[in-house]
Amino acid sequence: MTGTAPADRTPRTALRWAVAHGLPAMYLTRAARRGDLVARLLRDPRLRADPHPVYERLRARGPVSDSSLGLVTPSHRVAAEVLRSEAFGVGWHRSTAPRWVQWLLTATDDPAADGVAEPPSMLVTDPPDHTRYRRLVSRAFTPRATAAFEPRIEAIARSLLDQLDGGGDPVDLVAGYAAPLPVLVIAELLGVPTDRRADFLRWGGAAAVTLDPGLPYRRYAEAEGALRAMHRFLSGHFDRLRRDPGDDLVSHLVGLPDDALTDRELHAVVMLLLGAGFETTVNLLSNAVVLLDAHRDQWNGLAADPSGWDLAVEEVLRYDSPVQLTGRTALADTTVAGRPVPAGSRVTVLLGAANRDPEVFTDPARFDVTRANARDHLAFSAGIHYCLGAGLARLEAAGALRVLAERFPRLRVAGPPVRRDLQTLRGFSRLPVRLR
Ligand code: HEM
Repeated sequence: MTGTAPADRTPRTALRWAVAHGLPAMYLTRAARRGDLVARLLRDPRLRADPHPVYERLRARGPVSDSSLGLVTPSHRVAAEVLRSEAFGVGWHRSTAPRWVQWLLTATDDPAADGVAEPPSMLVTDPPDHTRYRRLVSRAFTPRATAAFEPRIEAIARSLLDQLDGGGDPVDLVAGYAAPLPVLVIAELLGVPTDRRADFLRWGGAAAVTLDPGLPYRRYAEAEGALRAMHRFLSGHFDRLRRDPGDDLVSHLVGLPDDALTDRELHAVVMLLLGAGFETTVNLLSNAVVLLDAHRDQWNGLAADPSGWDLAVEEVLRYDSPVQLTGRTALADTTVAGRPVPAGSRVTVLLGAANRDPEVFTDPARFDVTRANARDHLAFSAGIHYCLGAGLARLEAAGALRVLAERFPRLRVAGPPVRRDLQTLRGFSRLPVRLR
């Protein structure tokens, strides 16, 4: 059964947590106490409301500086260079860990608990496997395939707003609109049943949590329980599609010859597409509504002339990036901005800071939906891991916001929005609004 997922609290779960989160948490907490800024970004919940003062302190140190996790860059130029460089890979390599950590990782390995931030997830896999995964799924995300989805996005948006429009009382725009819209879109695109959307939301939330390092045990165990439930659902779904395939991407993937994807890889690919397909777009939508409420003239301008929505979405992505940071590991000895980087060491790439780099964006702390070069942001990363769903996310966000402003031009935020309790992803968990 795939109903409410109980938290898993077996000894193996505890060991998996200890090695993947418990030890990093101890290390980061100590480093944060010593004043290390990257550790503080990852550990200090007070920085969640506004990490930019810390980004600016790092920027004042130069394009790259030292941190408890290796080098860190808030620079757009250096971030783009690292993300596009063949000298760097994703994730870290087990071989660089102490022997006992490698042993623990092998001993606690369990495909049924795989999350989106561990191999074989595409996000943390280097070529040649990465190239193989990406080639198998990119046909569903070509510009033409994505554009064909535009009418469905609008129809889904209108139907959600019909359900949400309860009169003058405040409603939660995240629960009623920003969260379900991208879930319904990606579920349709992948051919998974949309009636399981409440489950997808819960499982996706768990996947999002596991992107953060150093989770407390209870949160990790809950997330692992949800991931296991998602894998069980996917196994059943793949069996159904093998018996009765449709015209969708997942039917195509399950019908491939056995040597194209192992079962574990198939799970990883579909889980990532499902999770990434909505856990980020929900943030883009909620960040956009909060920013445009605070810049009311810009909302009014867009409501009057909807042709500006595409650029407005780019400015939201730049100004309040839904994915704040990522990282890369040097595959061989190399250099970054003149600094030597030994093989195996890490560079933390602060996407949210790069997107406010004054070398690229004039007056970067100003939110301006007409900013001509807003699209130069790195919110979708760069290089071979450039977001596969960027086109879809742009289309969804512009469509959802245009329909919202058309239908409810007087919409106002009606209470304090609540930030999600996450560090890597940035958005809101609750956004009370009055529609009329
Ligand atoms: C506002 C919405 C979105 C944002 C800000 C976003 C951001 C990102 C970023 C920053 C990365 C790369 C991380 C890195 O380089 O380490 C990425 C990768 C990815 N995204 Fe998105 N994403 C969004 C929406 C979507 C959607 C709608 C999909 C739909 C399928 C999607 C699927 C993926 C996949 C599959 C990858 C992995 C690509 C690879 O490793 O080659 N994303 N995304």
